[in-house]
Amino acid sequence: MAGLSLQKVKKRFGETEVIAGVDLDVADGEFVVFVGPSGCGKSTLLRMIAGLERTSEGRVLIGGRDVTDEDPAKRGIAMVFQTYALYPHMTVATNMGFPLEMAKRPKEEIDRKVAEAARILHLEAYLHRKPRELSGGQRQRVAIGRAIVRQPGVFLFDEPLSNLDAELRVQMRIEIARLHQELGTTMVYVTHDQVEAMTLASRIVVLRAGRIEQVGAPLDLYEDPDNSFVAGFIGSPRMNFVDATVTAVQDGHAVVAAPEAGLVGMAVATRGTPPKSGTPVSLGIRPEHFVPADGAAGTLCGKISLVERLGGVAYAHAVLADGSMITVESRDAHNFEVGNTQLFGLQRAFLFGADGMRL
Ligand SMILES: Nc1ncnc2c1ncn2[C@@H]1O[C@H](COP(=O)(O)OP(=O)(O)O)[C@@H](O)[C@H]1O
Ligand SMILES: [Mg+2]
Repeated sequence: MAGLSLQKVKKRFGETEVIAGVDLDVADGEFVVFVGPSGCGKSTLLRMIAGLERTSEGRVLIGGRDVTDEDPAKRGIAMVFQTYALYPHMTVATNMGFPLEMAKRPKEEIDRKVAEAARILHLEAYLHRKPRELSGGQRQRVAIGRAIVRQPGVFLFDEPLSNLDAELRVQMRIEIARLHQELGTTMVYVTHDQVEAMTLASRIVVLRAGRIEQVGAPLDLYEDPDNSFVAGFIGSPRMNFVDATVTAVQDGHAVVAAPEAGLVGMAVATRGTPPKSGTPVSLGIRPEHFVPADGAAGTLCGKISLVERLGGVAYAHAVLADGSMITVESRDAHNFEVGNTQLFGLQRAFLFGADGMRL
């Protein structure tokens, strides 16, 4: 097993800089998830760890060893991709044992490691099947098995579940979490799906345009985002943002108002000294932080244009008088009626400056 370290890593393709200087330490045994919108550089960063892509600048260390100029095969890593690329003419067992076969390992060792991987992945009953006789989830498990037999110091996953349907994705997500619990091996996992990131990671790295926006435990990012990008990316449905102005500072809190949106005044805690009266801010409210208007810390007034009733929860999509849309969650679907104009109570809110930084 091994930790890894990225030091001032940059990547340019021609003139275009796609990784703009990344520093990151991953401890031995950690499960770190890179998350961010498509094109932000997640795969490129992972491929530089794997050695499939050269760094333009900076160093990559695995298990304390500088591997920046080393071949992928010598880095002690194994990678699982979105497309499983199994050999169609080989059985599950032969597919899984293939990396060891290539390394000319003794047959006894190959059989033992394949059997162990099959046990971990619940593939024992399928060892003699061909890939075409497997479901998508089983095929992806074979691909993971092929990585396990190599007993790498670090597992690298690049959106391994993106090709699976929604139900299978949830199932495989649990399997991968279990796999990490059982093996305890360092894992770096790339996804654009924030739910996958929240449920799998011990730490999440939020990337945007080749830079790290924030690194932290899932709930720390949810409870205490550094900026509006992270706040909007982590959490589902995403955070609502309403334009507001600071009207006073009271007891160390910023009092904010958004008269156009029906918000008269609400005291909001800030990280540091509250901004001066008159400062334009963005008020961030998570859909799950709305409460009944009576006795709430503040209210927004909106007209419900659409209601999604999911059973356990309902979401109202409402238009505020300033034209912005908000999404409001309620456990009681009867709270919402399309066409109603009503007050939505606010329980908690975050404040962001004009530059998107948390205040
Ligand atoms: N081989 C390449 N040549 C030129 N540009 C590339 C190459 N690979 C990736 N890019 C660009 O680098 C950026 C990051 O890509 P990628 O790491 O694949 O993003 P992600 O995995 O987050 O979707 C994108 O703008 C992409 O177009
Ligand atoms: Mg990618």
